[in-house]
Amino acid sequence: MEFLEFQKRVYRQFGLNLEGYKEKQLKRRITSLMQSQGIDDFSSYFQLLVKDEEQLMRFLDKVTINVSEFFRNPDIFKSLETKILPDLVKNKPRLKIWSAACSNGSEPYSLAIMLEELTPGVKHQIEATDIDKKILEVAKKGYYEERFLKNVSPDRLKKFFKPHDKGYLISDEIKRRVQYRHHDLLNDPYGRNYDLIVCRNVTIYFTMEAQDLLYRKFSEALSPGGFLFIGATENMLRYRELGFEKVMPWFYRRAAN
Ligand SMILES: C[S@@+](CC[C@H](N)C(=O)[O-])C[C@H]1O[C@@H](n2cnc3c(N)ncnc32)[C@H](O)[C@@H]1O
Repeated sequence: MEFLEFQKRVYRQFGLNLEGYKEKQLKRRITSLMQSQGIDDFSSYFQLLVKDEEQLMRFLDKVTINVSEFFRNPDIFKSLETKILPDLVKNKPRLKIWSAACSNGSEPYSLAIMLEELTPGVKHQIEATDIDKKILEVAKKGYYEERFLKNVSPDRLKKFFKPHDKGYLISDEIKRRVQYRHHDLLNDPYGRNYDLIVCRNVTIYFTMEAQDLLYRKFSEALSPGGFLFIGATENMLRYRELGFEKVMPWFYRRAAN
């Protein structure tokens, strides 16, 4: 079985459409998984995924890659905190925010913490979505080992977390601020009227065409003047064509129509 046929079968059987992912990278990740099982053809591997749920979970994990941490790239989060958010809350008391591909919740909870400090008690609407249902359960629990918290100041740790087991639990107050939902960025419809969309460290796995489409859809999903915040290793080259103006590295504003 060719890789393309494998992709098609995965889509039909498990509803996971891999078409928008960079093929070489994806193939490399999947082949290394196959090798770890002593399998060297896609047909046998597909059969294994159909009958062995644990292998299927490992496959989904490998394809989606869940690495995340609180305030990932702290200097850039500082720009969000000091330059972008104050402007947004000045113009609108209650923001609508989307953390797209939120992984284990570190990202939306980081946003909720910053907003609680900026506008204490205000219940902004923070939606957080991911394609991986398992990681969404992790996010909802809100339990983190220390390695996820290295950018959290002692002050914030004291105020917004409580020690639990070998790590920390996010406070209920912050947890309540984030609504989680399953969503596939490449295949599901997008919401509307967001003031801020945070989408970091996922488009790197997508083809250029898929990235362009996604950025265009983000621009339509934003309110006029709303911001898109992207990952530290990302750069939207054709931002003008895609409906944005660049405010500073990693921050784009929806252009006026
Ligand atoms: C590396 S993590 C990034 C997490 C967080 N945004 C950050 O920057 O720390 C990538 C996340 O993208 C999710 N993902 C991969 N493909 C996706 C898709 N098509 N739609 C939505 N989420 C996807 C994965 O499940 C994973 O949780």
